[in-house]
Amino acid sequence: MTYKKLVWGAVALVLVGTSSIMLRAAETSGPAASIPLDTVTDYIHAVIQADREIYTKNVVERMQAKGIVVASEDWQVKNTLPLPAQFLIDSAHLVARTTNIRVRLVSLWPINKQNGPATEFERTGLANVISQPDRPHTGFFENGRKWYFQALYSDRAVSQACIGCHNAHPDSPKRNFKQNDVMGGILITIPAAGQ
Ligand code: HEC
Repeated sequence: MTYKKLVWGAVALVLVGTSSIMLRAAETSGPAASIPLDTVTDYIHAVIQADREIYTKNVVERMQAKGIVVASEDWQVKNTLPLPAQFLIDSAHLVARTTNIRVRLVSLWPINKQNGPATEFERTGLANVISQPDRPHTGFFENGRKWYFQALYSDRAVSQACIGCHNAHPDSPKRNFKQNDVMGGILITIPAAGQ
């Protein structure tokens, strides 16, 4: 082996060595974590939406169409399935036990009055997602010296079951929902800083 080859070999070894050290460092510490808050709520919303849609289409609608079991509010006593809204609200309560993430279903035409807009943010947010369903309405608020970020996403009638049930429900103030209409919103609240 010539002297030149030895030198190049040593240079190559050092290069490979340093890059693997750098890779290892990136694996453990990662780049500076800075995901925008609206991206975080987009992620949470995507998971909620997927779970809810799959539950509505693949469980509620399928079981109902086959005449096996229906979904109803008093599912615990009637041995029926929970409503999609109850599925979402109950899951959100479970998440709230161990995290600072809050999820709420709201609407200008609520079957359950508790799901009506409770703040100015919810009221203007609902009006905004009705006119622009593809863009969430976002904002910040302070509570007990802590800052929170909120994003309200449109909640659309993704299937026949949504409108069938809401249009027929005795407590529903609106009876003419059509497929794909914005029926309300999904409000996601997260801490705006590490806490
Ligand atoms: C079998 C009946 C039924 C089906 C199917 C159903 N809902 Fe509901 N939904 C309800 C009831 C009842 C409530 C009130 C639940 C509560 O007590 O908070 C509700 C609540 C809601 C709310 C909160 C405002 C309100 O009306 O209280 C929204 C928004 C909503 N549903 C949208 C949807 C969408 C979108 C779908 C389809 C993916 C859907 N619902 C499917 C019965 C139904």
